[in-house]
Amino acid sequence: MTTTIDQARIRALAERSVQLITELQHPDGAYPASPTFSAYQGYSWYRDGAFIADGMSAAGAVESASRFFDWCQRMLEQRRAQIADIARAEAEGRPLPDDAMLPTRFTLDGSEGDDEWWDFQTDGYGTWVWAVVAHARRHSLGLERWAEGIRLSVDYLIATGHRACFDWWEEHVEHVHVSTLGCVIAGLESAADSGVLDAAQREAARAAAATARERIATEGVREGHLTKWIGSAEVDGSLAAIIAPMGTVDASSPLGLTSISAIEQQLCVGEGVHRFRADTFYGGGQWPLLSCFLGLAHVAAGNRERARQLLDWAVSTATDTGELPEQVGEHLLAPERRAEWIERWGPVATPLLWSHAMVVRLAVELDLVQPATPSTLTEVSS
Ligand code: BGC
Repeated sequence: MTTTIDQARIRALAERSVQLITELQHPDGAYPASPTFSAYQGYSWYRDGAFIADGMSAAGAVESASRFFDWCQRMLEQRRAQIADIARAEAEGRPLPDDAMLPTRFTLDGSEGDDEWWDFQTDGYGTWVWAVVAHARRHSLGLERWAEGIRLSVDYLIATGHRACFDWWEEHVEHVHVSTLGCVIAGLESAADSGVLDAAQREAARAAAATARERIATEGVREGHLTKWIGSAEVDGSLAAIIAPMGTVDASSPLGLTSISAIEQQLCVGEGVHRFRADTFYGGGQWPLLSCFLGLAHVAAGNRERARQLLDWAVSTATDTGELPEQVGEHLLAPERRAEWIERWGPVATPLLWSHAMVVRLAVELDLVQPATPSTLTEVSS
């Protein structure tokens, strides 16, 4: 049975979400993944953060998003020499090992932290570039403020974007993941169109993006849909994001439409989307943020009705105090694996700021929430 949520409740949750993200943003600009969850506490991810900033930007929280992008740029500038080493080694045909790459997450005050993590993931460095360019366009801002961060990211992506690395779920370092490639392409193409690259870097960015596109077309499609990784026949919920909001794959193309229906058929139960069929993390539940990505893909393909159902379900997963979880256990793929994670890391991450941002993003896209103007929104300015 489809869950139906009235617009007032959607609006209230969207407002609460913007407020929560605003309150939890670190003074230096970083967005925490979750303020309370043991394994994420104190850290900010480029991936989560870029989508959080995109949601905040769409909701009219211009300064909050800008400050996150400032933080991203700062992290990159502080690692300028490392990026140069990585790029030089790649150009000389002696690529550096994975442990010499940039981290996936940073502490909120910008260090690398002492906790072990599944570092080396390229998607976030593409996603933030896509998001900052989209933000600047949406609000008619100059991109000069982030030009250096964009240029450093392009160098890094050209050198590393083709490599196998951990995926969105910090798994399978041995594979080249199609959604990761899609994020890399989005970053490179956005940068190339942004006007902040010189001719040589712009051409190099376009060439690397074209190679990655060709790779997806020839090796990352099976039975007409995008695949989880190069050589796989499966799908992954993250693939919806490269259809929308990122637009790497056109939603209305045969590839876009077939990918949306493959995610619907293979990963969606009711309106809840699983990450992938073999998921066992917390028993392999359904992720509200993935329902929102699928909803955005449907909007881009013209199916607003299905998008609204997906949004309503995502909103229905909020706790009584209006907090959205990372996942819910209504339908588990591996119920016998749930307890071990609760024992290891505690209850499911709640609130997860990325979930909140995706509800906001889809609600705005469906015109259920009007973007705030500066006078209706209390923002901390830099
Ligand atoms: C997810 C990542 C996410 C991180 C922080 C992990 O469990 O796999 O996609 O970036 O949590 O939210």
